[in-house]
Amino acid sequence: MKEIIQQLDEKRRKARLGGGQKRIDGQHAKGKLSARERIELLLDDDSFEEWDMFKEHRCTEFGMGKETIPGDGVVTGYGTVNGRLVFVFSQDFTVFGGSLSETHAEKICKVMDHAMKVGAPVIGLNDSGGARIQEGVDSLGGYADVFQRNVLASGVVPQISLIMGPCAGGAVYSPAMTDFIFMVKDSSYMFVTGPEVVKTVTHEEVTAEELGGAVTHNTKSGVADLAFENDVEALMMTRRLISFLPPSNREKAPVVPVVDSPERLDKSLDTLVPGNANQPYDMKELIIKMVDDGDFFELQPDYAKNILIGLARMEGATVGIVANQPLVLAGCLDIKSSIKAARFVRFCDAFNIPVVTLVDVPGFMPGTSQEYGGIIKHGAKLLYAYAECTVPKVTVITRKAYGGAYDVMSSKHLRGDVNFAWPSAEIAVMGPKGAVEIIFREEKNDPAKIAEREAEYKSSFANPFVADARGLIDDVIMQHETSKCV
Ligand code: HXC
Repeated sequence: MKEIIQQLDEKRRKARLGGGQKRIDGQHAKGKLSARERIELLLDDDSFEEWDMFKEHRCTEFGMGKETIPGDGVVTGYGTVNGRLVFVFSQDFTVFGGSLSETHAEKICKVMDHAMKVGAPVIGLNDSGGARIQEGVDSLGGYADVFQRNVLASGVVPQISLIMGPCAGGAVYSPAMTDFIFMVKDSSYMFVTGPEVVKTVTHEEVTAEELGGAVTHNTKSGVADLAFENDVEALMMTRRLISFLPPSNREKAPVVPVVDSPERLDKSLDTLVPGNANQPYDMKELIIKMVDDGDFFELQPDYAKNILIGLARMEGATVGIVANQPLVLAGCLDIKSSIKAARFVRFCDAFNIPVVTLVDVPGFMPGTSQEYGGIIKHGAKLLYAYAECTVPKVTVITRKAYGGAYDVMSSKHLRGDVNFAWPSAEIAVMGPKGAVEIIFREEKNDPAKIAEREAEYKSSFANPFVADARGLIDDVIMQHETSKCV
């Protein structure tokens, strides 16, 4: 028996080394942690229970029969984050570049299957060169098995992907189907094909950073949700994200104790909206003052900045915030912001997270680039997301709610449960100037008359009372009581 225990210890020691100390040192030299170090930081102390530590690939092609490494390039199992169960896989770049073999995929699928069965999040720490080239179709099949589970788990358990190295090919499609993607600056990349292939096919010369670095995916493509300075920060923020989420679609997010009183009034909000309707203001100020302890976990902060999305708490319970941002493009809805918000609303809907929508929107962005890009279809995604969303929906119109964007932004018509307006709200088909230019076109050469018409239009629509009189607004609330009312 003693001998077997010694053998076990030795096998574990060997497995823990993955591709060897030299390669682990190589990871460190690149500013990256090893697969196991990442798990240690992500999970509560001593909570990790590893599965399939000794599993090996079965490939014999290209001399692979002689090259087996226990664990086959991925560390899998479960543990806790602040005492709550999560399943995790962490790809080991020191073993065949973290590439995915048939058995590597089986290990990932096993934790995903268990996560779905018991109802707990799956966190994937991705650091992989994609399909294991030596395995051919077996590795491709392995990816497809993972993809299928990503889809089955979607809306059932939260799926979070951290990109912590150069991820290519299949290694990016699986994260793309998960709920959140976090990247690490300067050491993580995501691309379907790398710069060399790009050069061959399109003759474009582009660096890995430009093509698929953290900044690219957090500002240009919108593929990622957040970018962090290093592995440690990314892992700590993942723990924070988990604290906002329910373990599955069968449960609610945990309610946590908060310092702020739910009855609080904030007089500074009374002056947030400027007197001049064309002057911008920072909607984030309202969010910070409205949510518990000013704690707003913003997602995609550097992409489609004309809309703000993120998680926060009110009376200790998680809420999803969607808010037009008048500071950028006057808060207009365009293709990017519609896609950004639609995906988030659908996530909240799937996971029992109430949605609070703050509205100041002059409409959908006009122009050829938007029309050619398909604003009609992409804008409709946000409309669809709100219309099908059945979690509690609370809306506050702070200023403009014009045109189709009024309908879209969680209006009463789309089953908004409680719809408030500030006294500064303006609910109309369009702004006074545009409206008067269309309705009174024949008077356009008479500035005095036009000014009179504009004033008339403003007094009719530049207030919340018409909508209120029709029951489309449940109450006009004072700005300072927003937190209390919502
Ligand atoms: C097998 C791989 C591998 C792979 C890397 N390695 N990728 N082994 N299959 N896919 C091995 C390397 O041979 C090397 O082994 C070690 O991992 C480290 O790789 P390096 O190239 O030295 O590291 P680095 O310079 O950091 O470059 C990382 C990389 C590059 C950018 C990921 O390795 C790369 O371009 N790999 C191939 C990417 C790729 O084309 N994958 C297939 C995608 S197709 P040694 O022993 O020399 O150290 C795909 C299909 C899925 O995924 C379809 C889904 C729809």
